[in-house]
Amino acid sequence: MLIAASPAELRASVSAWQKEGLKVGLVPTMGALHEGHLSLLAKVREQADRVVVSIFVNPTQFGPNEDFSRYPRQEEADISLLKQAGCDLAYLPTVAAMYPQGFSTTISVSGVSEGLCGNCRPGHFSGVATVVAKLLLQGLPDLAVFGEKDYQQLQVIKRLVLDLDIPVRILGAPTLREADGLAKSSRNAYLTPEERKVAPSLYRLLFEAAKRVQAGEAASLACFEAAKALIEAGFAKIDYLEVRDADSLAPVEHPKAPARILGAAWLGRTRLIDNLPLT
Ligand code: PAF
Repeated sequence: MLIAASPAELRASVSAWQKEGLKVGLVPTMGALHEGHLSLLAKVREQADRVVVSIFVNPTQFGPNEDFSRYPRQEEADISLLKQAGCDLAYLPTVAAMYPQGFSTTISVSGVSEGLCGNCRPGHFSGVATVVAKLLLQGLPDLAVFGEKDYQQLQVIKRLVLDLDIPVRILGAPTLREADGLAKSSRNAYLTPEERKVAPSLYRLLFEAAKRVQAGEAASLACFEAAKALIEAGFAKIDYLEVRDADSLAPVEHPKAPARILGAAWLGRTRLIDNLPLT
């Protein structure tokens, strides 16, 4: 497995492969890799001849009181996992390589980034859009894959790529879950054993609310009751629990087109997010 630390090294490898006629896929990550990330790698592998995984804990997508400093970092373990998984190149840029002295550009995507996590984490999606635009432009892979677990992020990235004519195909990949339904996430490592037992309620209650909305109940009522049940289950605070149009993320009460139920809630000091499709 090759390792690149600078945009120039990344670009050199990707363009050399592309000159040989090979398709290159990118999986952007913040490290602390788990099976969810490996499923993204497998998805890229289906459509690309070479797989690049970037690991960069992006400071600009964390708010001042968020978990940037305690976000799990395990570079050596990540690298050996990537080697085993058949990754062809790991891209590990430094903060100075990504945000050199004098860096002054921020990309903001309106519409899909508003509401939901956009309300609770001001500036988060600008940080994501800026770093993802940089990663895509630095590497110019043929495709890049992002997990549906961060569904709003996926919609922001699709919009960004469309609006800025970035010539990279964006794919979404389904959320990987633990046996009890909890969505796999690097942040699950923060949960205490007690919190871990409560955590799957987020998935369970989203699932039940989704069924009720599909059966004709108003989304606001189903979500209100699911939020109440989450608090009863042991969650400390609900950031949001809403049904939105699957593409535009506009709020919907009685969905007629594909929709998504999305939730974010706090279990102790850990913020969990999840979402499910409504058919
Ligand atoms: O989903 C993530 O891990 C991050 O938000 C991403 C897309 C790698 C950008 O830093």
